[in-house]
Amino acid sequence: MKISVAAGDGIGNEIMTSVLTILAATSAPLEYNMVKMGKLVALAGEPTGISGEARRSVESTGVLLKGPVETPVGPEFKSLNVTARKLWGTFANKRVFRTLPGVPSVAAGRQLDLTIVRENIEDTYGAIEHMQTHDVAQCRRLITRPGCQQLHEYVFEMAARKGAGRVTCGHKASVMKLTDGMFLETFYEVARKFPTIQADDVLTDELAMRLVLDAGEFDVIVLPNLQGDILTDMTAGLVGGLAYSPSANIGDGICIFEPAHGAAPQIAGKDLANPTALLLSATMMLRHLGLVAHASAIEIALNHTLLKMHQRRDLMEPIPIFRTSRFTELMLEDLARLHVPEVRNWTVETAPRPEPVMKMTESTQRTALRGIDVFVQFDSSPARLVEKLEQLDLPLPLTMVSNRGTQVWPTGSAHTDCVNHYRLRFASDGTVEQAQLLSVLSLLGDNFSLCGSEWLRDFDGQPAYSRAQSGDSVSAAAQSAGHSQTSVHPRRHP
Ligand code: IPM
Ligand code: MN
Repeated sequence: MKISVAAGDGIGNEIMTSVLTILAATSAPLEYNMVKMGKLVALAGEPTGISGEARRSVESTGVLLKGPVETPVGPEFKSLNVTARKLWGTFANKRVFRTLPGVPSVAAGRQLDLTIVRENIEDTYGAIEHMQTHDVAQCRRLITRPGCQQLHEYVFEMAARKGAGRVTCGHKASVMKLTDGMFLETFYEVARKFPTIQADDVLTDELAMRLVLDAGEFDVIVLPNLQGDILTDMTAGLVGGLAYSPSANIGDGICIFEPAHGAAPQIAGKDLANPTALLLSATMMLRHLGLVAHASAIEIALNHTLLKMHQRRDLMEPIPIFRTSRFTELMLEDLARLHVPEVRNWTVETAPRPEPVMKMTESTQRTALRGIDVFVQFDSSPARLVEKLEQLDLPLPLTMVSNRGTQVWPTGSAHTDCVNHYRLRFASDGTVEQAQLLSVLSLLGDNFSLCGSEWLRDFDGQPAYSRAQSGDSVSAAAQSAGHSQTSVHPRRHP
């Protein structure tokens, strides 16, 4: 079986050498395509950090064993890890958290075995960012239905394969009703196809608390990207830190196996790096390739090795310094005693891809255009803003103004501090044409510095956009439709 291997930066070389030596000791039938990824590639003029040869290799083998990479500092560089995940469509990031023998941790003595899958390519990790005004930066957070479905399907299938009894969805749909709401809704849609698995959901903040109180309560957890990033590091902290946190990035065509930790350049070359997370990532890879016996042999040897690595002659002694070379030696000693059966005739095939696959879901929804949210720069109060709008002859009624997501007109509070970035909502009771909305934009453009805009649509007669935060019950109706008590045409009702 041919796989691609990139050692990465910092401690990458040492831990990869250790892991490949250990893999060889199991006689795993693997052939390596060593490729270059990381900081040096990025600095040499390839901002993705992935050399052309690495890209071709990974796209043909479909499997990448990857060490940590460092992203060079500078506006032209985006996280190399995130680029690799997105470029190769690895939509699920699976991290396994187990208490390991000998490893000091707050969970020591308890048997933890928890799997967290985070969505891996959407959310704020799209990093679609724009400065709106000098004072206001924006990150556009896209959550997609096909993306959520694909993720949840993977999670439930994986849970079923490993015999998990429960899958829990973490989210903040209480606050982000449309984005996290979609994440949650699709979770339960998919869950219905797996009636033997208990499916439930918890708000992410509460989930964090419950993980600290008793992570043993959970079996498999699925989270949106950023929330998953945070909770997986937290959970790694429960079992001894990132040095013990392996991960698999799962895609339809390509999978990347990598440790969750960084390149730790400060300890590179000092024989201090702990290869456990990369080694456990490699065992996830072996299982993915069907080399289950090889993976188990490594896991058994690792248990013994870690116990020995942390052994003290008496309890008053400090835990011995972790040496990479000693770790490898102990692993090899142990593996020499284990028999791994041979595997024959196993091939993994990746189908060549001529072009990207379109991901779409069926919809019978009727959509109607109802208005527009326009974001403008304005350096004064809401009252001054509305005064200025009243001078314009706009084709649609202004129904709401908000600032940082909080309604400031038609009602608001003097305690809502404002920045110079307002959202003006123009909405109609009936259907409107794109051309009308463009004329709103054009008129506003003659009078304001525009920062951006969003169409407002109804899906099956329901507003398919969020309301602004408001303390006012009447305003809810006003925000979604033009025709209501508080909706005021700026020109006719000064
Ligand atoms: C991880 C890392 C990455 C992330 C960084 C390196 C961009 O923290 O793999 O969790 O945030 O996803
Ligand atoms: Mn992280």
